[in-house]
Amino acid sequence: MLRRLSDSHVAVVGLGYVGMPLALMLAKHMRVTGFDIHQERVEELKEGFDRNREIEGPLLRTTTCDFTSEVPDICDCNVYIVTVPTPIDGHNKPDLGPVESATKTVASVLKKGDIVVYESTVYPGVTEGICGPLLEQGSGLKSGKHFFLGYSPERINPGDAEHTVQKITKVVSGQTEEVSDFLAALYGQMNNGNIFRARDIRTAEASKAIENAQRDINVAFINEVTMILNKLGLSSYDVLEAAGTKWNFLKFSPGLVGGHCIGVDPYYLAECAQNIGHEPRVILAGREINDSMGPYVASCIHDLLVKETGSGKSGKILLMGFTFKENINDIRNTKVLDILKALQALGHDVAIHDPHARLEDVRHEYGIDIMSTLPDKAEYDVAALLVSHDVYKEMTPESLQSIVRRGGVIYDMKGIWRHMAVELAYRFSYQTL
Ligand SMILES: NC(=O)c1ccc[n+]([C@@H]2O[C@H](COP(=O)([O-])OP(=O)(O)OC[C@H]3O[C@@H](n4cnc5c(N)ncnc54)[C@H](O)[C@@H]3O)[C@@H](O)[C@H]2O)c1
Repeated sequence: MLRRLSDSHVAVVGLGYVGMPLALMLAKHMRVTGFDIHQERVEELKEGFDRNREIEGPLLRTTTCDFTSEVPDICDCNVYIVTVPTPIDGHNKPDLGPVESATKTVASVLKKGDIVVYESTVYPGVTEGICGPLLEQGSGLKSGKHFFLGYSPERINPGDAEHTVQKITKVVSGQTEEVSDFLAALYGQMNNGNIFRARDIRTAEASKAIENAQRDINVAFINEVTMILNKLGLSSYDVLEAAGTKWNFLKFSPGLVGGHCIGVDPYYLAECAQNIGHEPRVILAGREINDSMGPYVASCIHDLLVKETGSGKSGKILLMGFTFKENINDIRNTKVLDILKALQALGHDVAIHDPHARLEDVRHEYGIDIMSTLPDKAEYDVAALLVSHDVYKEMTPESLQSIVRRGGVIYDMKGIWRHMAVELAYRFSYQTL
C-alpha cells in the first residue's frame, strides 16, 4: 500500500541547479529535506546564499525546507528524489558514479513502502537496471515489492524566465500505476497538474535523452551550414534570417554547445545505442561538429587578425563571455576554453571577460583568471563576442571603442551587434559568423 501525499516526507538528494529549486517548490506543499554531500553548499544554503544565483536569499531564509549533509537526517523520509550530476568521462562515456553513490546513500536509509524517483538525465534502463539492483543490495529490500521506483526527467532551463517549473509539462513514470498516480499528484502540486504520464520508466528516460540529442543535432546542422556559408563569403545570420521566413524552417542559431546537458546527454544515448549493437551515426556526427566549433571560431578570429595586420603577428584579444550560455554563472563544460587554448597555441595574448561567472570558480575549475569588469583602455586588437549576455547587447560602438583600438576587429559570434554593423565597420573590421 503506497503512502498518501499528506504523510510523505521528501528527500531531494543533490541540491544543484535542478534539486535546489525543486526542493523549495515542493516545500511549499509538503515536508522536504534537501540533502547534498557538498557541506559548504549546504552551509551556504542554510545561511540563505545560493552560489548558483538561482534562488534569492529571502526565499531561502523563509523556506520550510531543511538542508543537510548528514545521512541520518534523511532516514525518516519516505520519498527520495535523486537530482545528482550525470557527467561524461574523458572518453565521452557516461559517468554514473554520482548516481550510483547517491543510490547507495538512499539504499542505506530505505524502508518498506518508500519511493525512489530519479530526475538525473540517464539512458533507458539505468533506473530499473542499475539503480534498482543497487537499492536492493544496499537495503535488503525487493524493488517493486517493498520499495518502488520512478523516473521524472527534468526540463528546467536556468536563466529562462519563460519556461519555469510552474509552466513546464512534467513527465512522470512509475514502476506501477499507483506509483505513477502518486508522482503525478506530487509533481502536479507545483504546476497545476500539468503532468504527462509516460508509459513506463524506460520511455520517460528515453524521452529526456532524445530531447537533448535532437537539440544538439539541430544546432550541429546550423553549425555545419555556417562553416559552408562562411566559406562562400556569406553570413549565416543573413541566410538564416531569410530562410526563417518559411513557416516550417526550424529556428536555431550557430555557436558553441557547452554545459552539462546538450553537449553531454547525447553521449548517454550513444552509449545506450552501442550497448545494444547500434552505431549512432547522426548523434555522434552532431557531437563532433559541435565540438569542432571552438577551434573553428578561433581560426576565424586568427584569420581576421592576419588579414587586418597583413602578418601572422600575435594580437591582443579580448574574449567576451565565459559561461556556457547567456545571463547565468554556470561555467561547466564551457567551450570558450577551446577558443582560448586554440588562440593561445597560435601565440596570441588572450584575456577573458564575463559579468556573471564567479571568478573564484573559474580559477578553481580551470586555473585561469578572468575579469568581471570590462577594460577601459582601447588596447585590444580584437574583441570577440562569444556569449550574448544582456550587458553586451546594450553596448554601443562608443563603448566598444573604449576597448578595441581604432581599426581593430570586432568578431560577433552571436550576431548581437548586427544592427549596428555599418556603424561598427566605420571604426573597426566587423565580422560575424
Ligand atoms: N541544470 C540543468 O539545467 C538541468 C536541466 C535538466 C536536467 N538536468 C540534469 O539534472 C541532473 C542534475 O543536474 P544539476 O545541473 O542540478 O547538477 P549540479 O552539479 O548543479 O548539482 C548536483 C548536486 O548534487 C550533489 N551531489 C553529487 N553527488 C551526490 C551524492 N552522491 N549525494 C548527494 N548529493 C550529491 C552535488 O554536490 C551538487 O550540489 C543531471 O543529470 C543533469 O543532466 C540538469
